[in-house]
Amino acid sequence: MQKKIEALRSGALTKIQKARTVVELDRIELSLFGRKKGVMTDILKGLKNLDPEARKVQGQLANDAKKAIFEAIAARRAELIEHQTIEAIDVTECLIPPLPHGTLHPITLISQELEEMFAGMGFRVYDGPELEADYYNFEGLNFDADHPARDMQDTFYIKNLPGRLLRTHTSTAQVRAMREYGAPLAVICLGRCFRNEETDARHEHTFFQLEGFIVGNDITFAHLKGILEATARYLYGQDTRVRLRPKYYPFVEPGVSGEVTCLFCRGDGCRLCKSTGFLEIFGAGRIHPNVLREGGLDPKKWSGLAFGFGLTRLAMLKYGIDDVRLFESGDLAFLKQFYGGV
Ligand code: FA5
Repeated sequence: MQKKIEALRSGALTKIQKARTVVELDRIELSLFGRKKGVMTDILKGLKNLDPEARKVQGQLANDAKKAIFEAIAARRAELIEHQTIEAIDVTECLIPPLPHGTLHPITLISQELEEMFAGMGFRVYDGPELEADYYNFEGLNFDADHPARDMQDTFYIKNLPGRLLRTHTSTAQVRAMREYGAPLAVICLGRCFRNEETDARHEHTFFQLEGFIVGNDITFAHLKGILEATARYLYGQDTRVRLRPKYYPFVEPGVSGEVTCLFCRGDGCRLCKSTGFLEIFGAGRIHPNVLREGGLDPKKWSGLAFGFGLTRLAMLKYGIDDVRLFESGDLAFLKQFYGGV
């Protein structure tokens, strides 16, 4: 028995010294002092069956062994914990190269900025579908079935889905929102539009627009001019000039198109502005009475103004991008220039 205790003690002390982790140490402790299966526990429990003389000698031996083992476990545990802490702050771990992360698309950035600006002016943000009914894109906006103005916006129709198309503009939100919310009303709608047209530095088949419209009792053209100028100056600075020119759109009367100083050539003329010094960025006008009617509003009681910015063009001017085709190119070198690029 005496030899057994001594062998157990020295074996346990060796194992404890060799333990490499706290978990391993816990396991050793359990194998020795576990209530049910601990080897030392069994020896200590067995002492009571010995005769008094033997109990005295072996009891002393067993308790000495127990104390020595406990001390060794505590000391080794302290060592391991200290060592673990050092590993946790090992700076060589930081040599792992940073993982690449995504960036926000310039259209997302400018959309967030303008949504915030218009929300501050009391506009509600409306979201309409990209796959749209002909009615909301054309008919409800005062384009007759064979109105030549339909050709102004070359349209992608959907095979096997009669009456459906990819929206050519975000003006689709007008009748939708009037029907949904009634009047008075101030709404913006930002989104992707599609036109089946030849692409060049200014024209893309897929681009973004920002539509806005207000319906109320005392709405005048001065409100429109104010909103349009405020937007242009908000984006491009106080000295930005906005030029309005009459333009026909079936859903407004009168209609205008708006241009700002070309920020690439500062008005001198370049390939982007086709040497005019101005770039067309929106269409606008007083909402046609027929459109109000389609929206369920009485044109004798209500009047409205609408504007549609080429959001992609706004972004081109803001970020100095001279080719619209870059936006949909998926070119990472282009995209990484924006917010948070690595
Ligand atoms: C419209 O789309 C009208 N819905 C705008 C409007 C709204 C007028 C409300 C009146 C009242 P337009 O086709 O002119 O209008 O387009 C508006 C703007 O979208 C243009 O000024 C231009 O900046 C942009 N745009 C049009 N076509 C393209 C294209 N293919 N690529 C990039 N931007 C385009």
